[in-house]
Amino acid sequence: MDSRLSARSLETLLGPWRTREPAYEAIADSVRLLCLDNRIAPRTALPAERELATRLGVSRTTVAAAYRSLRDSGHIESLRGSGSVTLPLGGSAPGRFSADEGVIDLQQASPSAWPGLAGAYAEAAGRTASLVTRTGYDVVGRSGLREAIAAHYATRGLPTTSAQIMVTNGAQSAISLVASLFVSRGDRVVIETPTYPHAADAFRGCGARLVGVPVVSGHGWDLERADHAFRRAVPTAAYLMPDFQNPTGGSMSAAERVAFAEAARQVGATLIIDETTAELGIDRPETHPPFAATAAGVGGVSIVTIGSLGKTVWGGLRVGWIRAEIDTIRRLVAARTAFDLGTPEFEQAVAEQLFPQMPGILTQRSGLLREGRDAAVETLAERLPAWDVPRVHGGVSLWVGLGEPLSSSLVMTARRRGLLLSAGPRFAVDGGHERHIRIPFTVSRHTMERAVDILADAWADLAQGVPLEGVEPLSSVI
Ligand SMILES: Cc1ncc(COP(=O)(O)O)c(C=O)c1O
Repeated sequence: MDSRLSARSLETLLGPWRTREPAYEAIADSVRLLCLDNRIAPRTALPAERELATRLGVSRTTVAAAYRSLRDSGHIESLRGSGSVTLPLGGSAPGRFSADEGVIDLQQASPSAWPGLAGAYAEAAGRTASLVTRTGYDVVGRSGLREAIAAHYATRGLPTTSAQIMVTNGAQSAISLVASLFVSRGDRVVIETPTYPHAADAFRGCGARLVGVPVVSGHGWDLERADHAFRRAVPTAAYLMPDFQNPTGGSMSAAERVAFAEAARQVGATLIIDETTAELGIDRPETHPPFAATAAGVGGVSIVTIGSLGKTVWGGLRVGWIRAEIDTIRRLVAARTAFDLGTPEFEQAVAEQLFPQMPGILTQRSGLLREGRDAAVETLAERLPAWDVPRVHGGVSLWVGLGEPLSSSLVMTARRRGLLLSAGPRFAVDGGHERHIRIPFTVSRHTMERAVDILADAWADLAQGVPLEGVEPLSSVI
């Protein structure tokens, strides 16, 4: 057993779990979902039955029945002396599928590879004889690639030198590295809610206390709450996605950008700006230069920008980067070796070849994402007209309002029908978002239509469940 979950922590993770009858199955399903999306790690001890029952305000028999159901489905085992412990989910555990079973996996919002990528790999492969004569890795990255990234920023309106760039293994390692440098245990970090969950995990891993600022589809960033968060919490850092925010797809207006830069400047917080999705425009009404260019007018604010080829080219390339002041890059170089020793030279050589072709690559991405977005919006409007489906102008996903706090139940029900999604609470900073679900539109029209058919059937399944106290009967919204 690796760690122990208190009844209080499990209650927080469960959120509003009372979404269906019987109560023990509602608890069991919520725990299954937490295991499936790794919010509860394998080999975690669950709280004792009596303790959890008191916390959740249910009888001990209910919790005992929930644990029995979890045992029967292979999610936990109960051992004399150590209580109930979650199990690693192997191929046989129910709810675990593979793509070749015809399952649609929308847990990740990963566009397929840019079609020219195989050719770029082949071209780089022709040069491997000379590549392998070099060390093959270094902490800051290949100079040609850093120059290409710097030139790309300059084209987008943000003058940059290659000394301001460090190449990383995707944006995720950039986020973890930057978090480790700027955040210490107990520090406050302002973060959007909903947010990109693996970034929240990285900050939590450094011991940060996250302070959520709501982003609402169609309404943007809650500037009043942001102002309050900066002034009251005095954060050391803020992590933001100003363009095509994941998961809402929203983009900050110029005024919102300036407001965040100003708020950060006043308290001396570093802005960690994740622009992984920033160039994924479909039909954006307004184009923005990188956040750091807009914020330059504010002056005196510390900004670290993170980028990646993960969505524009392919996630499997694992090439991302950090753009920062030269001093910060030096500090990051010193901190990096504890994590890894660099990005593989071959992938960097491939990436370097791609930058000159970026305008064409982005046009292809835009077409691909337009097809997915239009398919999602049209089929959802047709099959699930009561849901609130925002019209986004880019990015990778829709943040759909369900009207009812049933996101986790819907995800579990859809899963049984072969559609894998992440529930709204996975994107929350401090609980909530049970009324939303993220629907990535990074798939073909055909796949999206099948996914929405499954969602509509799963929603109908839920409607047949018996309503509970405090939850409106679902049938009233269908
Ligand atoms: C906003 C955001 N940042 C970072 C990442 C991680 O990107 P990478 O694959 O480059 O590590 C993702 C991937 O989904 C993302 O959506």
